[in-house]
Amino acid sequence: MSHSSPDLSPCVTTIVGTGSYVPEKVLSNADLAKIVDTTDEWIVSRTGIRERRIAAAGETTSDMCTHAARRAMENASVTAAEIDLIIVGTVTPDSLFPSTACYVQQNLGASQAVAFDVSAACAGFLFAMQIARHFINGGNRSTALIIGADKLSALIDWTDRNTCVLFGDGAGAAILRRRRDGDPPSSGLLSSVLASDGTLSGILHAPGIGSAQTTPPHRAVIPEPIIHMMGKEVFKAAVKNTCEACETAIARAGLTAADIDLIIPHQANVRIVDAIRERLGLPPEKAFLNLQQYGNTSGAAIAIALDEAARSGVLKRGDNVLLVAFGAGFAWAASVIRW
Ligand code: ACO
Repeated sequence: MSHSSPDLSPCVTTIVGTGSYVPEKVLSNADLAKIVDTTDEWIVSRTGIRERRIAAAGETTSDMCTHAARRAMENASVTAAEIDLIIVGTVTPDSLFPSTACYVQQNLGASQAVAFDVSAACAGFLFAMQIARHFINGGNRSTALIIGADKLSALIDWTDRNTCVLFGDGAGAAILRRRRDGDPPSSGLLSSVLASDGTLSGILHAPGIGSAQTTPPHRAVIPEPIIHMMGKEVFKAAVKNTCEACETAIARAGLTAADIDLIIPHQANVRIVDAIRERLGLPPEKAFLNLQQYGNTSGAAIAIALDEAARSGVLKRGDNVLLVAFGAGFAWAASVIRW
């Protein structure tokens, strides 16, 4: 297991705009009950999810990223020419290569940017945020477009009730910028914890075309690229690891849990969110949830929730916000930002 070192860099990186996108097609619990042996009651009581969005035929991860990015750029009043870094957190890239971030760069015409993907499953957006923060704090880049996006519907086994009820598609984006005169005082990214534990890689994975598969002429044995998950083990690992990461991120920000105004958790399961929130001693009204409508959108979940919290006014200027995510790897992350 590896943890990042204590975060002592000054708060020079701020979030100046957010945007998100979800596909139009709604798949309800009742719709799923027609495909697999499940019920709305089971799904809601075990997860909190009521419906999710599914990408249209031919709609790619980079398409969803581009919609979310344009909304974030408009929200931030930032042009494509100003963006000098694009990072996409995704485990469902359009293709093995080039990166999804390069397709987004092309779509936006952001010719000054360096663009690449990060693979940290549901923690992808927070990994992207922290990498961008290091670039900006280090003085190498000034304006970053970070995106969390996934099209997990492409990896779902639609005959497996253990997994097919959990996931949905979407994308969320944020513009990070080096602090300028006139930016709200003390807003920005205060602290972050990134961590991973590769010994837990077996509890959640999706095989596919990769170097682990036999090479020609034996290509026929490539396994189906579908999600395999040991749900209870994921549940336990998520609660244990993310609680510790939250406590560390809050301490590194020089705060206590009582100072947190809003927690925006990974939108996987309301019972996991409750367990984390209760361990931190935060009341239910401090947790932002939209998993009822979207399910678990993997790398997009926190990014979409952040955008919705900001646009709906739930998030207020000066709020201390705790972001926390976990996913396959096992990879997890917690960040404290001041809005
Ligand atoms: N409908 C009805 N019954 C179901 C369904 C379903 N959709 N799915 C499973 N069941 C059944 C099981 O077969 C089992 O039946 P059995 O006792 O006869 O064998 C029973 O319900 C209980 O199953 P459990 O696994 O005990 O249910 P649990 O309470 O653990 O909830 C769940 C399962 C929701 C998957 C939970 O374990 C969970 O949320 N885990 C975390 C998953 C997660 O967050 N994954 C995403 C990680 S992020 C990423 O990187 C993609």
